[in-house]
Amino acid sequence: MPTTEQLCDWDQRHYWHAFTQMANYQPLVIERASGCWLYDTEGNRYLDGVSSLWCNVHGHGHPRINTAIRAQLDRVAHCTSLGLSNTTGIELARRLAELAPGNLQHVFFSCDGSSAVEVALKMAFQYWRQCDNPQPEKTTYIALGNAYHGDTLGSTSVGGIAQFHAMFGPLLFEVLRIATPDAQRLPDGIKPAGACSHYLGQLEQLLSERHGEIAALVIEPLVQGAAGMVMHPEGYLWGVRQLTRQYNVLLIADEIVTAFGRTGRMFACEQEHVVPDLMCLGKGITGGYLPLAATLATEEVYSAFLGPVFPPPGENQKTFFHGHTYGGNPLAAAAALASLDLLEEEQVLEQLPAKSAQLATILSHCQALPQVSATRQIGLLAAVDMQVETPHARAENDPWQDARLAQQVCHEAIARNVWLRPLGSSLMLVPPLAITHDELELLGKVLIESIGAC
Ligand SMILES: Cc1ncc(COP(=O)(O)O)c(C=O)c1O
Repeated sequence: MPTTEQLCDWDQRHYWHAFTQMANYQPLVIERASGCWLYDTEGNRYLDGVSSLWCNVHGHGHPRINTAIRAQLDRVAHCTSLGLSNTTGIELARRLAELAPGNLQHVFFSCDGSSAVEVALKMAFQYWRQCDNPQPEKTTYIALGNAYHGDTLGSTSVGGIAQFHAMFGPLLFEVLRIATPDAQRLPDGIKPAGACSHYLGQLEQLLSERHGEIAALVIEPLVQGAAGMVMHPEGYLWGVRQLTRQYNVLLIADEIVTAFGRTGRMFACEQEHVVPDLMCLGKGITGGYLPLAATLATEEVYSAFLGPVFPPPGENQKTFFHGHTYGGNPLAAAAALASLDLLEEEQVLEQLPAKSAQLATILSHCQALPQVSATRQIGLLAAVDMQVETPHARAENDPWQDARLAQQVCHEAIARNVWLRPLGSSLMLVPPLAITHDELELLGKVLIESIGAC
């Protein structure tokens, strides 16, 4: 076995990490994981406070999921979904269609959330060219301020986080951008009670003027994760669904973060009784074990893609010409089926209200600290905004001071065996849904100590 020192050396020489400034990166090398704990090569353990980037549901190394993957491995590790099917993929498509709200009956598999969004964008575009009443001039999208939908060029185009996306501006297609419907930081003169109608009013104006050119509106339902867990006003999603229906615009719900119990229901859309036209799933779909994503489409969208393999001259094939080599990989599908079983059998959703309440208490203690400017939460998704404490401690012309503070708090937490990762000047708290009450208590204790130490 290589030593930790060797591994760190090789890591720094060869491993280019995602969303990581490599110039001053100090690796923490994980060797194994069990339950909510990650173990490094030195035998230290860390509570996984971010669910391995918001995807772990049942904890690591769950015997049920491991066994399902192993059993699938003995059957077939991979076969293509292009014109071919497999038993596990079929079963998963059926289960997802059963679980999904409304008539989202058709499941298109890919490998990651960005691709699931890319697929939805392309489906929406193609839909308007070949539905019963074609409107080929519908070629643009509405996206929300500070949206994040992934890192491929299409999903980046609908994204709106300057720090991540501005650099790639020249490569991206234009979209129509509406204000971030932030329930906490309201525009001047808008009161909380009027926030929802204010944001919906802006949307209605845009739709009324430009609906003829808009293929779809894409939204992270209820909460914009990568924006820093920005929460939408209650009723906003429902209002968006009404308006998109009224103006004949497809609704794409990006549930990549929010699905599978994260917000307290199986899907965030269910919280406001919304059925989108396209729904993107990823991250927690396999319990956080293997790469898999899915784009679910309604009967109406799907049927626009049906037609002859060899159409008569002058007519286009209606096929959706998009696919990923490993999309719907059977090993990942087996993990996903086991994860869905566990959600039911271990009554994961039923246990969430108590865990969510405990997290709320932790946040209220954080909120009392002078370095914390705000907190937000829905289900087991939460953010703590850090702010350098007093006016005289704040440096002029240092736009990074709050982000630096957030990073420092994470270092302190890691030194106390809790793995946290900042997002800008906020701390993201996204524990596995399987976290126990004792582990949550530890998370809260370490968090408060770590903030206090900075
Ligand atoms: C809302 C949302 N959509 C899409 C994605 C992209 O998913 P992936 O990283 O699997 O490509 C993310 C990733 O964090 C996300 O937060």
